[in-house]
Amino acid sequence: MTISVATPALFSSINVGQHTLHHRLVLAPLTRSRADPKTGVPSADAPLYYQQRTTEGGLLIAEATWISPTCGVYPGSPGISSQEHINGWKPVTAAVHEKKGVIFLQLWHPGRATFFPTANVAPSAIAIHTHSPFGGPYETPRVLTVDEIKSITQDFVQAAKNAMDAGFDGVEIHSANGFLLDQLSIHRYGGSIENRGRFPLEVVEAVSAAIGADRTAIRFSPYGAFQDMKDETPVATWSYLVQQLEKTHSNLAYVHFSEPRVRLFDDDDRFAPVEDDEEDDDDDAITLEPFRGLWSGPFVSAGNYTYSAQSAYDRAEKSPNNLVAVGRAFISNPDLVERFRNHWKLTPYNRNTFYSPGPEASLFFFFFDMVYD
Ligand SMILES: Cc1cc2nc3c(=O)[nH]c(=O)nc-3n(C[C@H](O)[C@H](O)[C@H](O)COP(=O)(O)O)c2cc1C
Repeated sequence: MTISVATPALFSSINVGQHTLHHRLVLAPLTRSRADPKTGVPSADAPLYYQQRTTEGGLLIAEATWISPTCGVYPGSPGISSQEHINGWKPVTAAVHEKKGVIFLQLWHPGRATFFPTANVAPSAIAIHTHSPFGGPYETPRVLTVDEIKSITQDFVQAAKNAMDAGFDGVEIHSANGFLLDQLSIHRYGGSIENRGRFPLEVVEAVSAAIGADRTAIRFSPYGAFQDMKDETPVATWSYLVQQLEKTHSNLAYVHFSEPRVRLFDDDDRFAPVEDDEEDDDDDAITLEPFRGLWSGPFVSAGNYTYSAQSAYDRAEKSPNNLVAVGRAFISNPDLVERFRNHWKLTPYNRNTFYSPGPEASLFFFFFDMVYD
């Protein structure tokens, strides 16, 4: 007698862009600050780091990567604006493809969330009110002109083309966590929801025209408070964005949302089971459901699946088009996919290594980490 056991949704296949993935666990984009601080070329360890986290038919999203050298880059963050960067990323994409994985690159402009006053620009003259990792308060940004916004859109396009030359399977436009595309704006890019949505939508339009919609994706964090973000009407604002994407770019590779309850600094209960969101009154009003309901393609959600495989299994069962991105637990468990598949115990992460310049822990980067996630 044979007993057939149904494949859990988390380990069933799903089409993302031109790829058929074998499971729905995704490496979340994770800044590790290990690129050459002067040039932004990925470190010699990067191919190994990404290959260790690759599975056949698994999706990886490589870390936030700056699109131009003038965009106020963070020390140790990689770039994708020059031939040197393209050459530096090639061994990474080759290492992932050798194991038949799929890798997207996250394209990033920090905007006002930069530590360098000369690069501090934003759609509005509103500073971040928290302190920067290097001590002082953030400066008030210089307001971008419409021409500059157009030119940054072209930087995204060029970066996307460079990412293709470097062998990436697609790009994820970083429109989350208080960075440029997530920032509120004035003139024809500000005020109404339609105007505020214009910049990210124009970037999606331009990037997908250049490299194909099925190689283009975007990340949002509607409920994020990081870097002084707060939207009074998150459901209306991001519903509009998703509706527009569904109308004009329903063949994007995926849309990616951060879950509202990301406990990035809460280590006391790390790897404790996540409470069921639906049992928590506070969360009834803040969920990703409104956005899930508006998008017919692949939907990636990230945040707190790091604590228990069960929460990832449940999400995939509940939401048929959903993939689950894992961040912190993937740092300390390169074989996370096998651990989740087999319900093996996870190795707790070590915060001191998150942003250290090499595999070893660093106290300086522990401080950096307290400020930037
Ligand atoms: C060390 C570290 C670096 C991160 N870097 C990025 C990044 O480059 N881009 C981004 O969109 N999110 C970044 N995040 C957020 C993660 O992608 C993810 O959303 C977050 O860690 C929540 O998932 P988790 O609960 O599984 O850790 C970072 C988080 C951590 C801990």
